[in-house]
Amino acid sequence: MKHKLLQHAEIPPLRDTELHTRYDVHPLWKESDPQAFLVEHGPAFSGYVTSARFGVDEATLAALPNLKVISSFGVGTDTLPLEAASARGIAVGYTPDVLNDCVADTAFGLVMDVARRFSAADRFVRRGDWLKGQYPLATRVSGKRLGILGLGRIGQVVARRASGFDMEVRYHNRRPNPSVPYAYEATLESLARWADFLVVVSAGGPETRNLVSSDVLRALGPKGYLVNVSRGSVVDEGALIQALQDGAIAGAGLDVYADEPRVPDKLLGMEQVVLLPHLASATHETRQAMADLVLENLDSYFSTGKLRTGVPA
Ligand code: DGY
Repeated sequence: MKHKLLQHAEIPPLRDTELHTRYDVHPLWKESDPQAFLVEHGPAFSGYVTSARFGVDEATLAALPNLKVISSFGVGTDTLPLEAASARGIAVGYTPDVLNDCVADTAFGLVMDVARRFSAADRFVRRGDWLKGQYPLATRVSGKRLGILGLGRIGQVVARRASGFDMEVRYHNRRPNPSVPYAYEATLESLARWADFLVVVSAGGPETRNLVSSDVLRALGPKGYLVNVSRGSVVDEGALIQALQDGAIAGAGLDVYADEPRVPDKLLGMEQVVLLPHLASATHETRQAMADLVLENLDSYFSTGKLRTGVPA
């Protein structure tokens, strides 16, 4: 008999895996009243498929008394009920590493775009403004200082990209990592003061909420740029808008926001800001690798009792 899985939302690359042939998958998002469905049918499911975006809420978890495994599409764990799952012995899988390159490419793309103003220049050409005069000069990237908040797996790939641009790299984590060849700054403010570009790659969740505060932005200074590819919650968005309005920083490149998919109107009106729709891992190759890992985690769990890539305790 096939294991019964509940799938929270449509995740298109999963269609190109054998998820639906190997498992009996029910699409929860097609239910008109998902909560009523859960109350009636919740006990039948042993697995839950979700994504870093949607996670699993407490009410859903409570309605699944026989749940054994959650397999999440994405590297972020801030929407996953890790403590409650651990207390019930539910295994939680996610998809780290396979997206490192694409997320780092996006971070570096935002560094390039916000400094060299490629997106704004594209709008300039399309408006026909080149016929009226030259586009203003921008800021050089190569040879500058890149500060990384969160030098984990993705942060280290960003640092490697930066070395190809002859940039000096420093970082701030909760603790220094003795195995990396980059200088550690003991505070985020000192990192921001040193950096020309501050790139946020740290995980989301309560521990990192609003770490990038108005003080940090002031330390980054009027020639400094902020890039965020982690979670909107890591940056105090109100303070960021104020800093951009006041010219306290030069610009920002953002892939993530406090209340996605809503982006504050004030940011939409700013030319010194590059705005992306949370697409850092969104390439065919990477999203397929993530979907394959969602399935591998389920297969591995149901055949051996162990996940291939479980969220660390
Ligand atoms: C991730 O994998 O966590 C991405 O940010 C998608 O939410």
